[in-house]
Amino acid sequence: MANPVNKGEVYYNKEAYNSANTYLAKNQYSKVFVLVDSNTHEHCVARFLSKIEEPSAFEIIEIPAGEESKNLETCNGVWNALSELGADRKSLLINVGGGVVTDLGGFVACTFKRGIHYINVPTSLLSMVDASVGGKTGVDLGNLKNQIGVISDPEMVIIDSAYLETLPKNEMRSGLAEILKHGLIKDEAYWNKVSNLTNLDLSDLDEIIKKSVEIKSEVVTKDPFEKNIRKTLNYGHTLGHAIESYFLTHSSKPSLLHGEAVAAGMVLATFISKKLKNFPEEKLSRISSKIFDIYSKIEFEENDLEEIIDLMKFDKKNEHGKVNFVLLKDIGQPEIDCVVPNEVIYEAFDYYQNFDFS
Ligand code: GLY
Repeated sequence: MANPVNKGEVYYNKEAYNSANTYLAKNQYSKVFVLVDSNTHEHCVARFLSKIEEPSAFEIIEIPAGEESKNLETCNGVWNALSELGADRKSLLINVGGGVVTDLGGFVACTFKRGIHYINVPTSLLSMVDASVGGKTGVDLGNLKNQIGVISDPEMVIIDSAYLETLPKNEMRSGLAEILKHGLIKDEAYWNKVSNLTNLDLSDLDEIIKKSVEIKSEVVTKDPFEKNIRKTLNYGHTLGHAIESYFLTHSSKPSLLHGEAVAAGMVLATFISKKLKNFPEEKLSRISSKIFDIYSKIEFEENDLEEIIDLMKFDKKNEHGKVNFVLLKDIGQPEIDCVVPNEVIYEAFDYYQNFDFS
């Protein structure tokens, strides 16, 4: 049967729902399931269903909200629900939610009966500009981020910025970190623009979301399975993921959103870039100031650092036991597979802790 959309393609706002309705009418799925979490069940799914022409037979499956749910146990619950509700190979799963829902839902779909189709409807800024695009699916293994998963594209991605109206400010800032990253790895003019946004007004966001998706999609199209250039999308994530994992499992530490950890990771990686790749010092100061304007400084204690550095051994870019960083020679000039001595990482934390942003 003809498919009116290109697999993995991103559609925006009104056009997205038109494409989804055409797609659903043509593809005649045996059953359609909608995966939500407790937040998107309350705030988003009604809007989504109101845009769909025949949603009456859709079954909703809910998982608890939060990174703590991003594990195989939650997948088990969703696989069981699909099975009990009669899902077959011609069923469709639509993930309506932030990064946890789209990553986990994608993984559940790709593995249920060896793979059913799925569609992503990202409802957080982070998921719109990063997680829902590019086919990465998966869950955490204990406190280790995204260790289990597959890369397989959704049928389509529906981006509707109206979902952001109910998104808390800290979640918006978390998504902004990925947007800042797109500027740093690809486009200095874009970095200048997005790092100077005074507030995250919805009127600016449509254009910004499109630009970020364009930057990400260009990279993913060239290297879908992250053999080379896709690694650049992990700028700030090598230490960012380690910091996030560490804070996730230490109850004495405040909770930290993904983007907050990545923002710190980008300051650290930019300092390391200055040390090892001659990244311009003046730009390092500007980038650090901008990031500290937006994100509160994370407090690290001396004995946190050893464990955080140790956690990097689980980074997915590692090969042959080597931790591979993405560094920058300048804004828009990333270099992959960079090995960084531990003493430079300690120096970077020192720079971060003592940065005077007053
Ligand atoms: N989040 C990075 C990537 O999709 O490659």
